[in-house]
Amino acid sequence: MLTAAKNELLTRVGPGTAMGELLRRYWMPVGGAYEFDTTSIKPIRLMGEDLVLYKDLGGKYGLVDRHCPHRRADLSYGWVESNGIRCSYHGWLIDETGRCIEQPYEDTANAKPAKDNCGIKAYPVREIAGLLFAYMGPQPVPEFPVWEPFTWDNGFRERVREGQPEDSRYWTVGRLALWPNAFYLGSHFEWRVPIDDENTLSIAWFFMRVPKGREPYVQERIPTWISPIKDTDGRWISSHVINQDIAAWVGQGRIADRTKENLRSSDVGISMMRQRFFAEMEAVAMGRDPMGVIRDPAVAKNVQLPNMMREINTEGLPLEEMTKHPLLGPRLEAFRFHKGQPPDVRRDFENAMGIGRN
Ligand code: FES
Repeated sequence: MLTAAKNELLTRVGPGTAMGELLRRYWMPVGGAYEFDTTSIKPIRLMGEDLVLYKDLGGKYGLVDRHCPHRRADLSYGWVESNGIRCSYHGWLIDETGRCIEQPYEDTANAKPAKDNCGIKAYPVREIAGLLFAYMGPQPVPEFPVWEPFTWDNGFRERVREGQPEDSRYWTVGRLALWPNAFYLGSHFEWRVPIDDENTLSIAWFFMRVPKGREPYVQERIPTWISPIKDTDGRWISSHVINQDIAAWVGQGRIADRTKENLRSSDVGISMMRQRFFAEMEAVAMGRDPMGVIRDPAVAKNVQLPNMMREINTEGLPLEEMTKHPLLGPRLEAFRFHKGQPPDVRRDFENAMGIGRN
C-alpha cells in the first residue's frame, strides 16, 4: 500500500514531475522504423508531450513539438523535405534539431529574416534493430545502450511459462528487469513507455535465430505491427500472453489506486521496485545520474545481459531440436505473445525458419 502522495509521485510523468524527470534520463523506444516505409510523419504523445515523429527525405529522423513555432499549426499535417519537416500553413521548415531554417515569406520580403528564438523543442532519435529510440531529457545526452541482442545476426526479428523446476535456467538466469521500464527474457524485450499519466505505449521486440544450416540469413525488413487489444464486444483480448498481461494492468483503472492495495510476500518485488523508483527520483532531484544511465561509449556499444539462451541465439540449433525445445517449439507453431500477427509477417517468419508452406 502506498500513501496518496506517493501514488501521485509514481504516476505523474509530465515535464517537471519527479517521475517524468527520472524517465527522461533514459533512451525510450517510441516506434518501429518499418512504420516509415508507408508514412513519413506520425503524431505521437510521449510522457504527456504532444510531438511529431518524422523521417525526412534525407533519411534523418526527427522528434519535434507537434506545433509549429509560427502560429502553432499542427506539424503532423506538414510534409517532409530533404532536411526537415515543413509546416502546411505558411511553409516554415524545421530541422531535426528544432531549428527553423526557412521562412518562405520572410526570406523573400525581409532583408533580415528573424530566425533566432523561433526554434521548437526537439529530441534526438536513434534507429537500431528495427526500433526507434528517443531521448527526451536534459543535456548531456547519455550514451545509447546497444543491448547485445540487437547485434545478433542470422535471426528473424519483429517485434511465460510454468512447469519449469526452480534450478532451471529459465528461473536462475533468464528473467531480467531492465531498469527503469523494461524486461528481457532471453530472446525478447518488452518496454512500457508512458504516453501520459493514464495511457501506456507497450513495445515488444522479438528475435528468433534461424535453424542451423539456414545461415547466412539476412533479414531484408524488420516488420512492425500493432496488436489489437480489444475484441468486437469491447472486452480486452485475453487469448495471448501479453494481451492477458494488458487485461490485468488496465483492470486496475486508468490510475491504479495503490492506497487500497494489500501487498503480500508474493509482492516483495513490487515493493523493492517502488522503493528504487523513489530513491532514483531523489538522485535526479539532487542532480545525479540515476541508476543505469551509461556515459561510457565503450560500455554502451554492446551491453551484455544475463541470457539463458545466448548459445541458442548466437550458435543456433538444428530445426529438429528447435521443434522439441520448450520455448522455441511453440514459437515455431504460432506467435502466442500478441494477437494479430499479420499473415505476411508469419509467412516471412516461416520462410526464414524453413518451415514455409509455400
Ligand atoms: S503556422 Fe506554421 S508556418 Fe505559419
